[in-house]
Amino acid sequence: MITCEGLVKIYKSDDLEVVALQGLNLHVRDGEMMAIIGNSGSGKSTLLNILGGLDRPSAGQVSVGPWDLLKITEEQLVSYKRDTVGFIWQSNARNLLPYLTALENVEMPMMLSSKVDRAYAKQLLEWVGLKDRMYNKLHQLSGGEQQRVAIAISLANRPKLLLADEPTGSVDTATSDLIMGIFRRLNQELGITIVIVTHDLTLAGKVDRVVAIRDGLTSTEFVKRNPNLDDVQQLGDGAGVGAGGIHSIHEEYVVVDRVGRLQIPKAYLTALQITDRASMEFDGERIIISPPKSLEG
Ligand SMILES: Nc1ncnc2c1ncn2[C@@H]1O[C@H](COP(=O)(O)OP(=O)(O)OP(=O)(O)O)[C@@H](O)[C@H]1O
Ligand SMILES: [Mg+2]
Repeated sequence: MITCEGLVKIYKSDDLEVVALQGLNLHVRDGEMMAIIGNSGSGKSTLLNILGGLDRPSAGQVSVGPWDLLKITEEQLVSYKRDTVGFIWQSNARNLLPYLTALENVEMPMMLSSKVDRAYAKQLLEWVGLKDRMYNKLHQLSGGEQQRVAIAISLANRPKLLLADEPTGSVDTATSDLIMGIFRRLNQELGITIVIVTHDLTLAGKVDRVVAIRDGLTSTEFVKRNPNLDDVQQLGDGAGVGAGGIHSIHEEYVVVDRVGRLQIPKAYLTALQITDRASMEFDGERIIISPPKSLEG
């Protein structure tokens, strides 16, 4: 569904250049539900905005389904955003129109592509648990309820790919669990591919795979040990899955790109005082990276 190879995004202003993504690699399979974690400023929203067609990549390769997002025309981009991808923004203000009811909000994207399907809009609101609130205006709903309206809106045009930027950023644990449960159902029952960006490691236990971004590069990948575990229920309420939790549920891998490059964690390099070169041996089973000989003993 998603392929990024050496994806680069540079933000340029008058005299400043910010390299937000510096050659990122990412592959997401059709039907996968995965999360991207990383510190503030690591490039998560930048990546999601590019995948959502809201921002243009600077260089590299990036495709979603049949669409090449580097070569796509403005005209094609409009239909890409309308038909292929659903987006939930980091800030709710961008998702919602406050003076309309929940139902009208969900119908809005349908209206823009002239395919209003009221029955489906109602069904979506029912799915996110807002059957009884669909005629309420947005300001009459709580933050968590508004966030669920945002999910219903993002699904209005039956996208194949759902991109969610911090969808549980401003809600409590119970609402966060509810939202993750909705995502899992959409993923399993409708087969929608879901990419969730989050700071929150407790969410990581509820997806199949977690990819960590550091400084605009994908660095580490965690794959669920037993993919048959049915997460949302069996992995508990998530409250107990702390920073170490990701390791108990997921197997950790370092990402190796197509030409064989990998990123060695800074802490390992520092511990071994490796700066600009290292020696590498292959013993038939393992690859051993050590400080250059001159530094040893
Ligand atoms: N429009 C922009 N112009 C210039 N620089 C930008 C722009 N948008 C983002 N950046 C910079 O690019 C880098 C990555 O930003 P991004 O928003 O992708 O981070 P993030 O991982 O989503 O962070 P957070 O977790 O805080 O949301 C940051 O250094 C940020 O300051
Ligand atoms: Mg962000």
